[in-house]
Amino acid sequence: MSKVKPLSYLAVIEPYLPGDFAVEGVEEIVKLSSNESPLGPSPKAIEALATLQSSLQIYPDSLATELRNTIAEKYSLAPEQIVCEAGSEPIINLLARAYSQIGDEILFSQYGFIAYKIAALSMGATPVAAPEIAYTASVDSLLNCVSERTRILFLANPNNPTGTQLPFSEIERLRDSLREDILLVLDAAYAEYCHGDEYRDGSSLVNTAAGNVVVLHTFSKIYGLAALRVGWAYAPPEIVEVLNNLRGVFTVSAAAQACAVAALHDEAHLLKSRAHNDATRASLSTQLAALGFNVLPSAANFVCVQFTNSVAAAAADLLLRQNGLIPRTLNEYDMPDCLRITVGLTRHCDKVVQLLASTR
Ligand SMILES: Cc1ncc(COP(=O)(O)O)c(C=O)c1O
Repeated sequence: MSKVKPLSYLAVIEPYLPGDFAVEGVEEIVKLSSNESPLGPSPKAIEALATLQSSLQIYPDSLATELRNTIAEKYSLAPEQIVCEAGSEPIINLLARAYSQIGDEILFSQYGFIAYKIAALSMGATPVAAPEIAYTASVDSLLNCVSERTRILFLANPNNPTGTQLPFSEIERLRDSLREDILLVLDAAYAEYCHGDEYRDGSSLVNTAAGNVVVLHTFSKIYGLAALRVGWAYAPPEIVEVLNNLRGVFTVSAAAQACAVAALHDEAHLLKSRAHNDATRASLSTQLAALGFNVLPSAANFVCVQFTNSVAAAAADLLLRQNGLIPRTLNEYDMPDCLRITVGLTRHCDKVVQLLASTR
C-alpha cells in the first residue's frame, strides 16, 4: 500500500461521470448522453484540421491570439479580456483554485452542473446547493444561501442537466444583490442555442465597477468541437491575469485553435445547427409531453424527461439502450426519476419517441 497520501479532503470527491458511449451487445449506437452536436462541426473546421498535417512539430500559440481576436469580433468583446483553455470545465476548476480554499463555500443551484460541486470539493471548500423551484434556479434562493464564507457562485444559464433558463433581468438582479467580493460565474455553455429577447450571456456585466463577473463559453456544444477541447472565459482584467498565471501554457492545441477559428467564421453552420435544434427539440418535447411524460422546458440542446419514478426511468433507459440510443441517467444529480436526452438527428429523436410510446 502506498505511503504517499493525497490531501484528506479529496477523499469525498466522486469522479465526473461522462455520458456513456457504448452498450454491450449493441453494435450500432447513437450517443444522446453528452449534449454533443448531431450535425457535427462546420465543414470549414474540418478543412482547417487537414491543413495542420505539415506543422505538427510546432507548439501552438500559447496566447491563442487569432482565436481570441476572432471570438472578440464575433461576440463584440475585448480580446485582451478573453482566456482560452482546453474546454470550459478546466476554467471552472481554475476559478475554484484561484478564489476558494478550505473553509470557504462555493454556491450553485440545486440541480446545477456537477462540475461546480467537484471544483469546490477539490479545493476543500464546501459546496452549497440552493433549492430550485420547478427545476429552475431561483435568484432569491441563491441569495438566501449566501453566507460570510461564500466566495464563488456558479450559475449555468441555461442549466445542464435541466435545460431551464433564467431571463436576463433575473441575472442582473442576482448580480446587483450579490456582495461584490463574491465571484459570479455565468456559465453560458449553451448560450448559442438561445436567441430569444430575454436571453443574454451576461458578458455585458463583466466590465462594471465591481469586477466580479466571469462568463464561460465552450466550443463543445453548438460548434461541434467537443473532441478538440476548447472553451473560453470573458473576465475583468484582474481575473484574466490570475487565470493566465494559473493555466497550463499550451493546453489549447493548434488543432483546437485552428478549428475553433474556422467554426466562428461559419455563421451559416451555426444558424443551421440552431434551427435544427429549435425544430427537433420542439417536436421531441411536444411528442413526449403528449405521451404523458413531464418534459422540462429546455433552452438548450437536450431535454430532461421526468418519469413517474426511478424504476420507470431506469426501465426507459434500458429500453433505449437496448435499441442503440444512449440517454443520460441523472442519479448523481439526485434526479433518479429523470433522463436527459440530447436533441439528436430527427430520425433518432423520432425513434426515442416511438420506443417510449411503447411503454405507455
Ligand atoms: C453547463 C456546462 N458547463 C461547462 C461544460 C463543459 O464543457 P467543456 O469542458 O466541454 O467546454 C458543460 C459540458 O457539458 C456544461 O454542460
